[in-house]
Amino acid sequence: MSHRLAFYIHIPYCLARCGYCDFNTYTPRELQSDTVRSLSSRYIESAIREIELASARVGAAVVPSIFFGGGTPSLMAGTEIASVINTIRDRFELASDAEITIEVNPDSVTSEFLALTREAGANRISMGMQSAKAHVLAALDRTHSPESVPRAVELVRSHGYEHCSVDLIYGTPGESIDDWRESVAAALSLKVDHLSAYALIVEKGTKLAARVKSGELIIPPEDETATKYEIVDEMCGEKGFHWYELSNWSAEGGECRHNISYWDGSHWWGVGPGAHSYFNGVRWWNVKHPETYQSKIKEGKSPMLESEELSEQNRRDESIMLRIRMREGIPLSDLSPAERERVGQYLESNHLDDGAWTQGKLVLTRSGRLIADRIVREILV
Ligand SMILES: C[S@@+](CC[C@H](N)C(=O)[O-])C[C@H]1O[C@@H](n2cnc3c(N)ncnc32)[C@H](O)[C@@H]1O
Ligand code: SF4
Repeated sequence: MSHRLAFYIHIPYCLARCGYCDFNTYTPRELQSDTVRSLSSRYIESAIREIELASARVGAAVVPSIFFGGGTPSLMAGTEIASVINTIRDRFELASDAEITIEVNPDSVTSEFLALTREAGANRISMGMQSAKAHVLAALDRTHSPESVPRAVELVRSHGYEHCSVDLIYGTPGESIDDWRESVAAALSLKVDHLSAYALIVEKGTKLAARVKSGELIIPPEDETATKYEIVDEMCGEKGFHWYELSNWSAEGGECRHNISYWDGSHWWGVGPGAHSYFNGVRWWNVKHPETYQSKIKEGKSPMLESEELSEQNRRDESIMLRIRMREGIPLSDLSPAERERVGQYLESNHLDDGAWTQGKLVLTRSGRLIADRIVREILV
């Protein structure tokens, strides 16, 4: 029987680094180069080589999804993205209904890029919108304007992309509750079938962290951030979008199947510097810097930095942590009687869905989602 293997392709380049972001991405300047294009063709050659390594290691496999994430995949040439898709198609069996997503930034996505990638089989775009308010985008150091997002979504749709999603961030310094309502309303007025909304995390070592530490920016209080979660959940519901994971809402059929495969314990291969993979109970991750990654590949070596074999216990704990975030929930039969009893106390406080519990499932209510981490700790003491 052949395996199912999802692919994540990391594109480690951005034109500028947003103040809040600590993803594994580099500007051409940091890599002593003039443009991303002068780096990308060599990088894509290495990524293709890693896909060939994956084919040698895994053997026959059906690929249900491919996700190009970053960084900024829309800075690559459309032909480069197409060559990665075609390599996967040549080496594996790409499912006929495969979901192929590309993350794009609203100010770098072009008609040419969308035409070429669509022709190669990509069918889903995920766009970093973050906010509809200029002052919030400025606090986040985003390079795009609010107006560029509707234009870019129109462009995506005009190229026949079946699915389009936008990412929002809430809890940015200076963002009021009304600002947030406006951002959610603006996102839901677009031709999108999916929305991700993330609470801003002040990551150590970022420019944002320095500005917060110096007192120049003030992080809004936690209860306001919780209210913003309730607002986005409510507004999505009114639009007919349902939550299927804590930070993700979609119209019927608009769920991101690739992300679900991370959460439900499927196999995936992460290509590129710093990318993580999981196959047959083993997790591994690649060297972090794009130059080191390319040198390893050029020398014919594996770009893997470290790996770990997950014990039965690890796998179960991770599965509980991930599945509790999903609307699908966890069958109560997967919990021990003691775990069921401990978590059962959250029924009375309305943190767990009563109806689902009666039908034998643990599903969080809206207020339960706000304390998901606490509930997991209670289960896994
Ligand atoms: C890896 S980014 C790539 C998307 C694309 N480069 C962009 O920025 O438009 C994916 C998403 O992660 C979210 N994100 C990144 N850093 C974050 C942080 N510190 N706190 C909350 N969300 C964050 C943003 O919403 C972003 O759109
Ligand atoms: S464009 Fe996206 S990946 Fe690049 S720095 Fe900004 S948030 Fe991070």
